Amino acid sequence: MSCPIPPPATAGTKHDRPTPASDEAPRTGEDDLVRRPDATGTDRSTAPSAPPRPTSGTPSPRAAVLAGLGTYVPPRVVTNDELAARLDTSDSWIRTRIGISTRRVADGEATVDLAVSAGRRALAAAGPIDIRAVVLVTTSADRLCPAGAPEVASRLGLGTVLAFDLASGCSGFVYGLAVAASLITSAVTEPGGVLVVASDVFTALTAPDDRLTAVIFGDGAGAVVLRAGEAGEPGALGPFDLGSDGSQADILHVPGGGTRDKKTRGSGGPVRTPPYLIMDGPAVKRLAVDGMVRSARRAANASGRSIDDIDLVAAHQANQRILDAVARELGLRPHQMLTNIGHVGNTASASIPLLLADSAVAGLLTPGRRVLLSAFGAGLAWGSTTLVWPDICVVVGA
Ligand code: COA
Repeated sequence: MSCPIPPPATAGTKHDRPTPASDEAPRTGEDDLVRRPDATGTDRSTAPSAPPRPTSGTPSPRAAVLAGLGTYVPPRVVTNDELAARLDTSDSWIRTRIGISTRRVADGEATVDLAVSAGRRALAAAGPIDIRAVVLVTTSADRLCPAGAPEVASRLGLGTVLAFDLASGCSGFVYGLAVAASLITSAVTEPGGVLVVASDVFTALTAPDDRLTAVIFGDGAGAVVLRAGEAGEPGALGPFDLGSDGSQADILHVPGGGTRDKKTRGSGGPVRTPPYLIMDGPAVKRLAVDGMVRSARRAANASGRSIDDIDLVAAHQANQRILDAVARELGLRPHQMLTNIGHVGNTASASIPLLLADSAVAGLLTPGRRVLLSAFGAGLAWGSTTLVWPDICVVVGA
């Protein structure tokens, strides 16, 4: 069975471009296409099949189940050399210290635009599921007010469904999954599903002259459709490990633009700081490794297993050195730590869904694999969960 092709842009989605099929086999995450054939022409998108249901006996507990995945990255590719032409940095420093070669940068599109494109692909991937809620996960909102989720819902033709934003930095996608799962299991969205879209345009938050942050971040969006199902079936999410430490809020923050900025008065009047990201790199690195390792272990244990039972880890793509350190601490073999930071950069909340999609399309993430998701970021906030990868469609593209 082949995966569906999302419809082209419609009225009200003017920033979306149609998604033509490509003739050549593209590299993961880099070209316009709907379904990715591999070099032999075989469709490597995973096709959906009817979700397994319990045959008899006591019904399993309800759970939120992954039903479709879609992603979008803006078409503009920015190389390290392009950054080095205007900043005191180099291609080799960025590759060696962070592991990034290229990233995508939004140009003429904002967070909601990316979210709509990814959301459309996820809906197409999931097939006919009645969407009853939209959660937009972002820490780079188009506007301070209102939330972007209602606009995403409207532009996707989902009508007047429940819709809200969730801001939890780079751990936002896992938080979004947990909140969406609770909407499903508490029957708020009965009998339908939830669209969770993680979309961030962090390049709008990095100061153009800050070589530390400008080289790390890229833009992108990833979306999933969750449906009601049973715990234990492929794609069922959870349990979740979620946590935060607000005492470390200042090591990764955007000081300008909010109410604190506008209401804080120095002797000379209002203090205004630019809305740009400030990062204590070494502190973030140390805490991120420790935070993801601990959270990953707790999530694995909460599922009644250990890290040894996990086939693949999809961790927030903060930077390659962090991923290497997490893999070492968890005792993973190299192929178990999925990575795509090299060509998309750190895409904040969109990082894990982009990674899952790229890994599925590349044939690294296949149905039946036990996957652990783990993320850490601004807040500080972290989150992890596990699932068995289901037989679903994945629709990617620029
Ligand atoms: N190009 C070249 N040199 C750079 C640079 C850049 N883009 N950015 C910083 N440097 C310099 C620093 O100024 C410093 O110079 P100095 O030794 O002369 O003072 C040197 O590189 C080392 O800086 P330091 O911050 O101590 O290095 P590091 O080994 O910790 O690496 C990071 C820097 C940013 C790669 C690392 O701290 C890191 O990965 N942090 C986590 C960042 C992250 O993942 N953020 C997102 C979280 S969601």
